[in-house]
Amino acid sequence: MRWVVFNQKGGVGKSTIVCNLAAVSAREGRRTLVVDLDPQANASHYLLGSDVEAADPNLARFFEQTLGFKLFRDGARGFVHHTRFDNLHIMPSDADLGELQAKLEAKYKIYKLRDALDELDGYDEIFLDTPPAFNVYTLSALIAADRCLIPFDCDDFSRRALYNLIESVDEVREDHNSKLRVGGIVVNQFQARARLPQLLVDELASEGLPILEPFISASVKVRESHGASKPLPYMARSHKLTGQFEELFSTIQRL
Ligand SMILES: Nc1ncnc2c1ncn2[C@@H]1O[C@H](COP(=O)(O)OP(=O)(O)OP(=O)(O)O)[C@@H](O)[C@H]1O
Ligand SMILES: [Mg+2]
Repeated sequence: MRWVVFNQKGGVGKSTIVCNLAAVSAREGRRTLVVDLDPQANASHYLLGSDVEAADPNLARFFEQTLGFKLFRDGARGFVHHTRFDNLHIMPSDADLGELQAKLEAKYKIYKLRDALDELDGYDEIFLDTPPAFNVYTLSALIAADRCLIPFDCDDFSRRALYNLIESVDEVREDHNSKLRVGGIVVNQFQARARLPQLLVDELASEGLPILEPFISASVKVRESHGASKPLPYMARSHKLTGQFEELFSTIQRL
């Protein structure tokens, strides 16, 4: 299954969710690929650490080649790199993606990523990380994916933005990718002791939005894990958040 984690709002946990669900999947022995479509390259740094510089060619090169009407030198597989973790591969990003964006948009290169992923077989799960914007990279990811997961950071502005987000997904389904479905809303940075997060989540549920369980708690361990370039299932196997990501992965497997 191909999962896109999408929310135009910055800092809601997209990269954290992509990398930790991918880590759970890989640890369960499933062949797993992360595709990092964000020029900030946070997921690439999280999974590769200092090896990120050596992970060449990356997705920026891939998109550059699509502009040159060239065939991929080694096919799509040439852009896939191993991480230090078994069963976990990545198509990494870098800042050059930012510079290519306008050219790709002018030439409407929105189906190339899907074509490249279609060429890759043997992956049980593919997780696509997107930038905090609706641009050619986000659209490419929504076109390449089967299911969309929408992180929600328990904030009232985010709650209001959700309806537009779901509309954007519906529009992509209608115009470009009939397979695409909203898998659900991933509640992140949940604080069980505060009243507001639960109220906001209840409100979403009462409006019929598909809230996935369990919620991912707020924890400083997430920052430590980013700093160590090790997703939680590798860094802190018995931590509460690792358990939550494991359960969330089982939840989405049943969708
Ligand atoms: N469950 C959590 N508990 C505590 N901090 C978290 C949690 N999830 C994410 N964060 C923190 O929030 C920040 C943003 O997380 P992340 O980079 O995953 O979000 P993002 O949506 O990918 O951001 P961007 O839109 O910039 O790509 C990071 O500093 C991260 O450490
Ligand atoms: Mg991110």
